[in-house]
Amino acid sequence: MNVFITGANRGLGLGFVQHYLAKGDQVWACYRGECEALTKLDAKALHLLQWDVSQDDMPRGALPDKIDLLINNAGIYGSIKGGQSLDEIASDDMLEVFNVNCVGPLRVVKHLKDRVVAAQGVIANLSSKMGSSADNSSGGTYAYRASKAALVIVSKSMAVDLQDDGVRVITLHPGWVQTDMTHHSGLIDVKKSVAGMTNVIEHVNDYEAGQFVAFDGKIVPY
Ligand SMILES: NC(=O)c1ccc[n+]([C@@H]2O[C@H](COP(=O)([O-])OP(=O)(O)OC[C@H]3O[C@@H](n4cnc5c(N)ncnc54)[C@H](OP(=O)(O)O)[C@@H]3O)[C@@H](O)[C@H]2O)c1
Repeated sequence: MNVFITGANRGLGLGFVQHYLAKGDQVWACYRGECEALTKLDAKALHLLQWDVSQDDMPRGALPDKIDLLINNAGIYGSIKGGQSLDEIASDDMLEVFNVNCVGPLRVVKHLKDRVVAAQGVIANLSSKMGSSADNSSGGTYAYRASKAALVIVSKSMAVDLQDDGVRVITLHPGWVQTDMTHHSGLIDVKKSVAGMTNVIEHVNDYEAGQFVAFDGKIVPY
């Protein structure tokens, strides 16, 4: 299987790379700037590409003709602490986070769509429960919540639009995971989250097109 992963140099992205390499798949791993953790893996089945998903440029590196699984993992949280409160949130923060977390996956799919269609593959978009309106009881975090909510809708439209081409699209919530994004304060580790999400991806046909599903297989209301 040819697997393509964005934001793959650390955190969940790196966990996906390790998971699919261990399964014997060919993995195209994208990094934005630094790729030391990937080069250390020293695997023949690993292909590195440089891709900043906030830009319209194509990735730098050779692409596979067919992509069986595309994982849109790259994402940012935006300003921390008070930076995303109602008083502090700024237009620039809103737009920067929206550009990476929502427009980014759309750009990636527009660039790679034909290759996923050629394989009748799967697209997995990593959103977050923070983007669920139903789950929002604490408010704040304007930029991150809004970008991940928008990604749920973008992912659903992709699912509808690509269904007739034989492509399945799913939206994932990784859980609250110990990565740099959470300052390693999450409830579960990368291995558990990736094991759960890859299991959901394997059973993508059990879910409605574009459904929002957590790492433990539970549907996320949004
Ligand atoms: N951790 C959680 O609890 C949690 C919960 C819900 C959803 N998520 C989502 O899961 C995904 C992975 O999160 P994580 O916890 O692994 O985060 P992380 O440790 O902060 O890693 C984020 C990854 O995204 C990359 N990235 C950021 N901006 C990029 C850009 N413009 N172009 C290309 N790559 C870019 C980073 O690359 P650099 O090293 O170059 O910055 C890094 O590889 C994100 O979409 C996140 O929103 C995480």
